[in-house]
Amino acid sequence: MDTTLEIIKDTFNKYNVDIGCEIEIEKNYFETIYILKTYIETKATINKIKNFINFRLNRNVEIILPYKEDSIGVKIKNAYERTPIYFKDIIETDSGLYLPLFLGLNSRNEKVIVDMINLPHLLVAGATGSGKSVGLRTIIANLIFNKTPDELKLILIDKKKVELTAFENLPHLLAPVITDDRNAMNVLCYLYEEMKARFNKLSKANNRNIEDYNSQIDSKKKLPYIVVVIDELHNLMATSKKECDFYLSQIASMSRAVGIHLILSTQRPSADVLAGTIRANIPSRLAFKVASRINSNIILDQAGAEKLYGKGDALFITPDHNEIERLQVAYTTDENIKSICDFIEGQGIKPKYDDKLMNYLEEGFE
Ligand SMILES: Nc1ncnc2c1ncn2[C@@H]1O[C@H](COP(=O)(O)OP(=O)(O)OP(=O)(O)O)[C@@H](O)[C@H]1O
Ligand SMILES: [Mg+2]
Repeated sequence: MDTTLEIIKDTFNKYNVDIGCEIEIEKNYFETIYILKTYIETKATINKIKNFINFRLNRNVEIILPYKEDSIGVKIKNAYERTPIYFKDIIETDSGLYLPLFLGLNSRNEKVIVDMINLPHLLVAGATGSGKSVGLRTIIANLIFNKTPDELKLILIDKKKVELTAFENLPHLLAPVITDDRNAMNVLCYLYEEMKARFNKLSKANNRNIEDYNSQIDSKKKLPYIVVVIDELHNLMATSKKECDFYLSQIASMSRAVGIHLILSTQRPSADVLAGTIRANIPSRLAFKVASRINSNIILDQAGAEKLYGKGDALFITPDHNEIERLQVAYTTDENIKSICDFIEGQGIKPKYDDKLMNYLEEGFE
């Protein structure tokens, strides 16, 4: 027996509202909606019913009126102890995309997967503990599972030293996982130069973008995509904001054509961390639960993220899909990462760091 349904029926009866016996139930990962064929005129009664169900279930209840023309919807947040959606259970392979960016399931239980080359960069924000680092790990795990080190190179910047270091021995890495600010800045200098060098290469070959270039060139000379992941961007900003703004906005505005893509994550979606120039050049956003409407406005240009439930509950928007999509990000555990890394290392490909980048890192750049 569905006790929630019994409590709903009972409450409507108590307030003398006839709900008939045709009750439909719509369920998704986040909430359950009980659809009752009835109508209530007075707001006061609606509020009383809502408060009473709230009290008895101790959950967030919303009454939607009307719901589907002739009905009322009673929307109830699913129990908080939602079981995570594990990445290993829904891992996406053979998507045929250049850079398959996989996040999790939307509210219709469909996989959310897009080509990173169309985003072309991603801004991630959310309060502490909302699921940003887990999200980054899921994105990286899916990329490395689907693309070889010849096709895709990664640069990972992780000041906390715990979130991304699990990827330490990956052959996809252009350099060891970067954990200090000075080297993070050096990475940005390197990327800026690499971007210019790639533009030169493409213009000499008369190609407009990396896809054209790679489709014509000998397979050994193909350019790999470079995805740069920066967790805790606000820390980096705190030390050298001006340079950081300059490099990030320059790279974000031009690098798509040459196959360089940024994923930037921050706990502090405030105007000082995410300068207008950076936001203008990164229209794709992944928002986890934030503390306030103001934060939500900065990350999504609208309210909504302050109402999310946390733990991987997120809103996603890209320039291709103008509508915001609600999704539950897949959970990638440490063991999952370890087994994916073991699997890739087991193929015998050794990490080969990029000499030029290593020079930037070792010698610094003034
Ligand atoms: N997609 C998810 N599914 C289930 N649980 C999750 C998910 N994402 C996060 N969690 C839970 O929330 C915890 C915190 O997540 P995470 O470390 O990603 O937060 P964060 O946003 O990076 O926080 P901080 O800003 O403090 O680094 C995780 O350890 C996990 O228990
Ligand atoms: Mg984190």
